[in-house]
Amino acid sequence: MTVAVAAGVAGTPTPPVPRTIATARRLRGELRLPGDKSIAHRALLFDALGEGEADITIPSPGGDVRSTAGAIAALGGLLEVTTLAGGQTRYRVRGGGTRGMALLPGSGGETLDCGNSGTSMRLLHGALACRPAEATLTGDASLSSRPMERVAVPLRTMGARIVTTDGHAPVRVFGARHLRALGHRLPVASAQVLGAVTLAALAADGVTTIEVPGPTRDHTERLLGWLGAPVRRDGWATRVEGPAGYRARDVDVPGDISSAAFWLAAAALHPDSALRVRGVGLNPSRLAIVEVLREMGADIEVVPGDPTGPEPVGDLLVRGGAPLRGIRIEGARTADLIDELPMLAVVMAGANGPSEVLDAGELRVKESDRVALVVAGLRAIGVHAEELPGGWRVDPSRPRSRPVDQTVETRGDHRIAMAFAIAAASGVAEGVVIDDPDCAVVSYGTFWADLATITDGASVPGGAQAIDR
Ligand code: S3P
Repeated sequence: MTVAVAAGVAGTPTPPVPRTIATARRLRGELRLPGDKSIAHRALLFDALGEGEADITIPSPGGDVRSTAGAIAALGGLLEVTTLAGGQTRYRVRGGGTRGMALLPGSGGETLDCGNSGTSMRLLHGALACRPAEATLTGDASLSSRPMERVAVPLRTMGARIVTTDGHAPVRVFGARHLRALGHRLPVASAQVLGAVTLAALAADGVTTIEVPGPTRDHTERLLGWLGAPVRRDGWATRVEGPAGYRARDVDVPGDISSAAFWLAAAALHPDSALRVRGVGLNPSRLAIVEVLREMGADIEVVPGDPTGPEPVGDLLVRGGAPLRGIRIEGARTADLIDELPMLAVVMAGANGPSEVLDAGELRVKESDRVALVVAGLRAIGVHAEELPGGWRVDPSRPRSRPVDQTVETRGDHRIAMAFAIAAASGVAEGVVIDDPDCAVVSYGTFWADLATITDGASVPGGAQAIDR
């Protein structure tokens, strides 16, 4: 079936309906997850900037990925959207540039709504900086409060004109026909900014080197390299030889390990659990969540599969029942776990000793101030938690308070909603209410359905025995 492209999630028109989450008797089953958001954004955009046509197949794309697809549609690069069996969506895109860096010409002056998606907005800065046209990037209230100068500064140095609104969206991007290559050190270790500068550098004259002050996911380099572009990651630096084009190629996006994190945590916390998550992206720069949960005592097995593109894939198996130890997360490891920290905070609340997260100031400028909301959420479920400038301290050994109202405030942040739903489902707390459950749709449209599936063990043929190790 061919359908019109859906716009991004641009705000909730009706008041959210809170949801009370029950503790599951047991957790059993197998799940397939939405496509990895980081890879999906890049596959759509990079193919739309290449030469020729390509199909990008994405399992259950969430609102963020649809924001990127919507922007590409507005720029004339999206040919067709097809809904396939099993909840997959196939996007057919075409690029237009002989240097591989232009979406179709004559599409200037648009307003591109990035919804809630920081990755869409930052990557689009880079894609637009090298097109001789003008466009305005907008987002919802959360995205409009997130910092954009971090991406505007290097692109201005390369020759693009970028006008932010006091450092935020709306942002007007006036692309330049000729960009300068540069040697640049980013002040924050951001894969989004690195991706944007890499795209622009492919259109610049000469070699660009971008250094980052810490680890970042390397999906940009892997995918562009696989497409044939002269882009290489070397430690914490990325080297791009411009100007260069490449041909678009079909991509099958694997499941999102950041979504898998909710099920790994749920099963690790629940005493009677066995889950298998199939077809997950296993990029080493995203595996810290598996390592840390194992260090805390969780029983997780990684079963590698056959990759069909630039990213390793496989299944994750997890069983509960083992006691979990407290842990300290800091430095480079904090950066490696940046999207999983809200979920880890809940795991920390279910461990048998104190835990700490440090060096996580970046969490304050995500979809919400996640440091503040994590601590507020832990306190709402009665767990002793202390807010630090860049993190938190959790002490589950201290007696729980008994809040009258265990409502967790999400402020529309998908990861806060899902993390605290898992707190309830896994038994870390009982009777938890999520104030805006529907915000999960930003990254995980089938989250509540998947939760229902695994909390009804009877519906899984064979239950735990079906999980074949
Ligand atoms: C992402 C990078 C990370 C991450 C975000 C996705 C990406 O953000 O938090 O969810 O796809 O590049 P930063 O690059 O800002 O750290």
